[in-house]
Amino acid sequence: MKLARLAAALAAIALATAAQAAPIVVKFSHVVADKTPKGQAALKFKELAEKKLPGKVEVQVFPNSQLFGDGKEMEALLLGDVQIIAPSLSKFDRYTKKLQVFDLPFLFHDIAAVDRFQHSAKGKALLDEMRSKNIKGLAYWHNGMKQLSTNKDQLRVPADVKGLKFRIQSSDVLEAQFRAMGANPQKMAFSEVYQALQTGVVDGQENTWSNIYSQKFYEVQKTIAETNHGVIDYMVITNAKWWDKLPKDIQKGLQEAMDEATQYGNGLANDINQRDKKLIADAGKAKIQELSKADVAQWQKAMEPVWKKFEPQIGKDLIQAALKANDQ
Ligand code: LMR
Repeated sequence: MKLARLAAALAAIALATAAQAAPIVVKFSHVVADKTPKGQAALKFKELAEKKLPGKVEVQVFPNSQLFGDGKEMEALLLGDVQIIAPSLSKFDRYTKKLQVFDLPFLFHDIAAVDRFQHSAKGKALLDEMRSKNIKGLAYWHNGMKQLSTNKDQLRVPADVKGLKFRIQSSDVLEAQFRAMGANPQKMAFSEVYQALQTGVVDGQENTWSNIYSQKFYEVQKTIAETNHGVIDYMVITNAKWWDKLPKDIQKGLQEAMDEATQYGNGLANDINQRDKKLIADAGKAKIQELSKADVAQWQKAMEPVWKKFEPQIGKDLIQAALKANDQ
């Protein structure tokens, strides 16, 4: 009897040790290429997390919509099929209206202003905005400013996009932005854009240089206008219930790895976009249309109605706080 009890106790210890030895698997799914700002930051996070928590965590990064694409990744996070994702700030419409502030056209002058807003009290508070929906924000990651592209030779002023079909991210603000210019927006997952451009399902799209380059959009577009009319940035998020149950030392290590990966990726983002702009220019497939101040003013004016429309849902105070970040 005694022996049997001892054997059972030993077996229990062996099981507990094995369980302890098995690393916690953290699946990180995203939709862009490894060589983009988000792709690089995700790989850095893996490297740092595994170094800080040796044998305790294994981070598996799935780029390029390999595991889950837009639409599915949020659902997968909430179901626990993946632990970290980093959707663009334009893709949170269903969960909070506050993040729509990032989509207002011509709000931020540059990524430095976006960064300042994200680090302000109001910006940081947005990371916790979706807690009640079981979503915890871990960090903001940068990509860059958006450019506009079409399959037409002429793309300089808003009149050039009238009647054209554009792929947009799933954002009501972006939908209104294209409607304000008399164009026809169509919400579509990122992984489907290349083919939609190639087959003419849509005529154009808006994106950063790094996405235009890594997805080869420049091969199936004739002109890319350097509008810098908006921003693509990300919120890195996790399943709050999963996070809260993690042992404290794991939480701490993962948060530290996230903070350092954020610094690293955000420091690279601008260089990657400038590098990819040059690679697109060198490829000589799509023309890069530079714009005069007067041209830019026309785009700004055409997109202006969007602000009024969304101000009630976003909140005037948040818009003001974001605007203030331009002046600091
Ligand atoms: C897009 O859908 O165009 C972007 O949000 C993709 C990304 O994650 O950069």
